[in-house]
Amino acid sequence: MDDGLTVRELVRQTADALGSAHEARWVCEVATSLDGAEFDDAMDDPVTVKMVAHCDAMVARARAGEPLAYVLGRWSFRHIDLAVDRRVLIPRPETEVVAGAAIELAAAVDGPRMIADLGTGSGAIGLSAATELPVRGTTVWLTDVREDALAVARANLAGIGRAAANVRIGIGSWFEALPNDQCFDVIVSNPPYVAVGSPELDESVRIWEPEVALFAGHDGLGAIRALIAGAPAHLCTGGWLVLEIGADQGRAVAAMFHDAGYVDVEIRHDLTGHDRIAIGRVTSG
Ligand SMILES: C[S@@+](CC[C@H](N)C(=O)[O-])C[C@H]1O[C@@H](n2cnc3c(N)ncnc32)[C@H](O)[C@@H]1O
Repeated sequence: MDDGLTVRELVRQTADALGSAHEARWVCEVATSLDGAEFDDAMDDPVTVKMVAHCDAMVARARAGEPLAYVLGRWSFRHIDLAVDRRVLIPRPETEVVAGAAIELAAAVDGPRMIADLGTGSGAIGLSAATELPVRGTTVWLTDVREDALAVARANLAGIGRAAANVRIGIGSWFEALPNDQCFDVIVSNPPYVAVGSPELDESVRIWEPEVALFAGHDGLGAIRALIAGAPAHLCTGGWLVLEIGADQGRAVAAMFHDAGYVDVEIRHDLTGHDRIAIGRVTSG
């Protein structure tokens, strides 16, 4: 025990140190290995020295500027809780909307549906698809060029229960990681889309998050170009490509989809009203 300090007092101290009550709660949940109702019920329980030390260490990391998701080692995305660390990008709220668009398109497919999440990182998009789509008839491929990122995706796969049986993992650059003898109904990707040297990138993102997850050539469109060019060979007839894009890339990406022969091309907004999702369909696979 730590001189009778309770969970409630630990939360209060942590909130003072971090300047945020909800961040303090997340940190204390991790430190006490409790969450939700269990955490609420434990407010008057004493904490151990080990819990306080864990909490202090997390507070020190957060105060040194490390993103809270890495400090906590987990982050929520749609309906799942993902393990995250510096091997993968921290899943963003805007990507939840991208995943939602892909899941909606896949849900409309009658019968067995094949989905691929290219550049899966933590597995955020693909594992959401696997858990939200019917277990029967759904297959989701998660791919990444980095084995260390796939190790995180694999750890998260182990946490999704029954739907995990529907998930396959492939390593390689974009389409190289996919089987050649299968077509996909939906290919979704949140690729790197920041221009090298972009002054707009948040300093914390540049310092802490993996470079390979962020940058895509001098104009930020290198990965998007490769995905638009390569997807038709892997999409079933009528299959969809769904891409997350930068807020200033909508017009250029829509033109790239049209030039490559996609139909029903749409640029959709994220929750803050910025261009964020590019969607197009192929008429022949
Ligand atoms: C912006 S992050 C997205 C991560 C995750 N899908 C998400 O939305 O949080 C881009 C991911 O693409 C991967 N990546 C970069 N270049 C790649 C390539 N040539 N082929 C496959 N994956 C690649 C990175 O390793 C990284 O995990």
